[in-house]
Amino acid sequence: MDHFTYKNRILHCDDVPVPALAEKYGTPLYVYSKKTLQHHLKQLQSAFAAVNPLVCYSIKTNGNLHITKLMVEGGAGCDVTSAGELYRALKAGCPADKIVFAGAGKTDAEIRMAFDNGVFLFNVESEGELDAIADIARGMNRVAQVALRVNPDLPPKTHAKTDTSVKGVKFGLDIDTVLEFAQKVVKNPHVKVVGLHMHLGSPILSTEPYRLGIAKGLMLIDKLRDQGHKINVWNMGGGFGINYKKNEALPATAFAEVIVPGIQKSGCKLVLEPGRFIVGNAGLLVSRVIYTKDSGGKHFVIQDAAMNDLIRPTLYDSFHRVWPVVGSPPEDFQIENPGTIKCDVVGPVCESGDFLAKDRYLPPVGRGELLATFSAGAYGMAMASNYNGRPRAAEVLVDGGEHHLIRRRETNEDLIRPEIEC
Ligand code: LLP
Repeated sequence: MDHFTYKNRILHCDDVPVPALAEKYGTPLYVYSKKTLQHHLKQLQSAFAAVNPLVCYSIKTNGNLHITKLMVEGGAGCDVTSAGELYRALKAGCPADKIVFAGAGKTDAEIRMAFDNGVFLFNVESEGELDAIADIARGMNRVAQVALRVNPDLPPKTHAKTDTSVKGVKFGLDIDTVLEFAQKVVKNPHVKVVGLHMHLGSPILSTEPYRLGIAKGLMLIDKLRDQGHKINVWNMGGGFGINYKKNEALPATAFAEVIVPGIQKSGCKLVLEPGRFIVGNAGLLVSRVIYTKDSGGKHFVIQDAAMNDLIRPTLYDSFHRVWPVVGSPPEDFQIENPGTIKCDVVGPVCESGDFLAKDRYLPPVGRGELLATFSAGAYGMAMASNYNGRPRAAEVLVDGGEHHLIRRRETNEDLIRPEIEC
């Protein structure tokens, strides 16, 4: 469920007509719905309520301070992967004891920063990392709480670039050797292994990987406890898929049905690191058509959002629904609906890979008309760049009939600001 609806053929976010937002803030523009963000967080919290989880919003997905703060106000902690994200989480008011620190390549400076601020848990991914954390903890006279991130070696389940639990990817500790590794650190006075961490991949559209992960995790936790580790946290990561096309995703309750019994059996505190589930369908990207043209047997709609604003289509061949802001959206965006023509929706960037949608049936649109690219709240702005000298888009948060700019549009001056004057 989200709060983006067509009323009298005009797309609204809550009570605000999207054309009014485009007029006021310009395009390309990211528009987020506060109510949808809150609703999605609540859905997760209620689905897993039986085990009172710590939901750590994965701020890599969309770390805007206002969105992160909304999550924190809703009771969430944060999952961070770098000093920059840690800084952001703290700035948004996240209590440090609700922050989990993930990432395969934490630097010494990042580890120190995490200690200085008292983060709850390090998700550890290699022997080298554990040594570094232990060394730094000794130097600072501290004891680190860590969760071992294990790669449970499951069958492929999502796009190869975002599948994190198959053999041969860089993530986690190898499930075949994790126990040997864990044995070596039982007596380390500066590192307490208190948890198990898994992030299976993203997005995941079935419960099966979680079922398999839980089964493997339960066995591992038993063995880690036999070694003397007092395991009391189980971090299942994120990965819950969303509807990009139609109704392909599962509700939070479906994942809870598979995960909760395993957690109860383990006696652990459940940590979750969802990102996409919360913010993916809480945001869309609004753009304006600049030109249309026919070339090489194709009809191109050239609009002012590009791969630098939303790189998912070209990076992962991802499908995002695209439709005019003024019009009547079809039930199914994947078919040739009456009155539509086949288009490539592209941007101004100098790459053939610069597109938001390919071979898509849209009503004819012309110069100046607005388009909405849906499900763009997750890994949209977060992965945006300044490629081709393009200032990044503005972001606006809508709440009922109100709207607030939460990130101003970048300017040409912003583009050169960090460069040394010549
Ligand atoms: N925890 C860890 C350790 C992760 O690596 C990730 C995502 C998450 C949690 C959050 O996963 P989510 O709940 O959002 O699925 N850029 C790609 C997705 C990359 C995912 C990276 N890790 C995309 O646009 O599809």
